[in-house]
Amino acid sequence: MNKILVTGALGQIGSELIPKLREKFGKDNVIAVGHHKEPTEEFKKSGPFEMADCRNKEEIRALIEKYNIDTIYHLVGVLSAVGEKNPNLAWDVNINGLKNILDLAVEYKIEKMFWPSSIAAFGPTTPLENTPQKTVLEPTTIYGVTKVAGELLCQYYFVKYGLDIRSLRYPGIISWKTLPGGGTTDYAVAIYYDAVQKGSYDCFVKEETTLPMMYMDDAVRATWELMEAKKEKITIRTAYNLAAISFSAKELAENVATYLPDFKCTFTPDERQKIADSWPRSIDDSQARIDWGWQHEFDLDKISIEMIKNLKK
Ligand code: SER
Repeated sequence: MNKILVTGALGQIGSELIPKLREKFGKDNVIAVGHHKEPTEEFKKSGPFEMADCRNKEEIRALIEKYNIDTIYHLVGVLSAVGEKNPNLAWDVNINGLKNILDLAVEYKIEKMFWPSSIAAFGPTTPLENTPQKTVLEPTTIYGVTKVAGELLCQYYFVKYGLDIRSLRYPGIISWKTLPGGGTTDYAVAIYYDAVQKGSYDCFVKEETTLPMMYMDDAVRATWELMEAKKEKITIRTAYNLAAISFSAKELAENVATYLPDFKCTFTPDERQKIADSWPRSIDDSQARIDWGWQHEFDLDKISIEMIKNLKK
């Protein structure tokens, strides 16, 4: 039986992964856990919702016991830009929170667990083109440091305790339902919001900045496919490289303008430029493609069409 706990339920990924899990496993079998934000009435009606803080182990323990949980998606995380403003918070949530959940997963013999890593695990000394699965991991953001430490912690719990923990290094994720909260790749979402609402956007990275990106539908499907893959197929217990497409901020702006001809984009780099410059431009995700058949579907045109259509509604 699947009784699933999802932390970070109201975040960018959680708010789209939960409906998919509820469709597959039944709405009462997926427990959404938020922290500080109140959910919408619609979300509240869509299935069980609880408030808890992953830094408080007893709050999470109570939910595991109350709902007899056997699967956990631990999505909570402080992203890169917010992390630079508050490194202690990033460490506390991203590492102490993760460790609480890993310990509870072992104690309650959780069958499967997912935790998100990121391209932020890489850094300026990593080969930034076609970045390999196994490579230098020397990130220069606290967010990246927590992702590398978290990956190693996950692998340790697999080796030491046999916990079936699976993870992906997500690229920047583009979606229209929920705004991302304080990341560096957020410009690739904000551009669509502003293009539709205001007809212009002031981008916080330079025109030539190129990062790996993915549409939310692909990201949700990748998560689903990884978690559904047979255990013996999973050869990576840190986190899989995962990719779809890469484009520069200028190419993105030009693409948006092909669908909204009056759209104007300016470029005013801020402190997030330095973070973007430390991350890969493209990712080699062949291990995910070999091990569990990963294939992306959305290219930039398809993303722009979907984003603009949905935001106009
Ligand atoms: N999207 C995240 C960020 O920009 C990277 O994982 O922080």
